[in-house]
Amino acid sequence: MKTVLVTGAARGLGKSIAEVFLKNNWKLIASARDISKLDTHKNLIPLELDLTSEDSLKQFIEEVKKLNLEIDLLINNAGYNAKDIGDNDYFQSTFRIEPFSAKAVDQTLWVNALMPMQLISGLLKVLSPESVVLNISSWLGSITEKKAAGHYAYSGSKALLNMFTRGFALELEKSDISKCQSTVALNPGWMRTDMGGGGRVKGPMKRCFLQKKF
Ligand SMILES: NC(=O)c1ccc[n+]([C@@H]2O[C@H](COP(=O)([O-])OP(=O)(O)OC[C@H]3O[C@@H](n4cnc5c(N)ncnc54)[C@H](OP(=O)(O)O)[C@@H]3O)[C@@H](O)[C@H]2O)c1
Repeated sequence: MKTVLVTGAARGLGKSIAEVFLKNNWKLIASARDISKLDTHKNLIPLELDLTSEDSLKQFIEEVKKLNLEIDLLINNAGYNAKDIGDNDYFQSTFRIEPFSAKAVDQTLWVNALMPMQLISGLLKVLSPESVVLNISSWLGSITEKKAAGHYAYSGSKALLNMFTRGFALELEKSDISKCQSTVALNPGWMRTDMGGGGRVKGPMKRCFLQKKF
């Protein structure tokens, strides 16, 4: 039985991904900030993870290691957009050059890029020989595709995640740091989730950013 780890598996894209893998008889390590919100299933191992907290991440990594499983697919899915807090002043301080708040922007970088990379680092040794690390990105993190003004925190966090994915891919290619086979940053396209909202229906963007170990 193969094992997949999905962060943010209680709702949105993460929940859908979780359902697909359970249906295909994979073991699933699923994270949420409140594990009571995760589905129950004989192959689902629920673990708490709050990506704003380094202690929570450390604890999560320890719990995963204790399971003594090799991970075949690690999906950094959990993501944060400052608009979801519902505080417009705070959101604008991450979205517009005036007012711009480094502290507010930093929170998004932390959850969407820095902590996902720390998670990969912490689990390097439990990744299986054929494993893949998938980082859920966004077209908003593409330097060449970006057409919308501002949105510094979210766009910047996904651009950073893309660059980190590339850096990690090159490290995998050039050294024996992990048995992990490859890493990918993928744009899922617009989705009607809490983050994506219900408004726009234009069809998913087809672009993805692929970094592979050859
Ligand atoms: N929706 C779109 O149109 C779209 C487009 C491009 C890319 N994406 C990306 O796709 C991924 C999934 O997004 P979604 O649309 O499914 O969003 P969503 O429905 O709003 O779900 C967000 C997920 O992230 C988790 N999360 C947020 N803050 C967290 C934190 N501090 N610590 C741990 N987990 C946290 C949530 O966990 P809890 O349940 O614990 O709150 C939830 O599972 C994200 O990386 C997002 O950036 C989305």
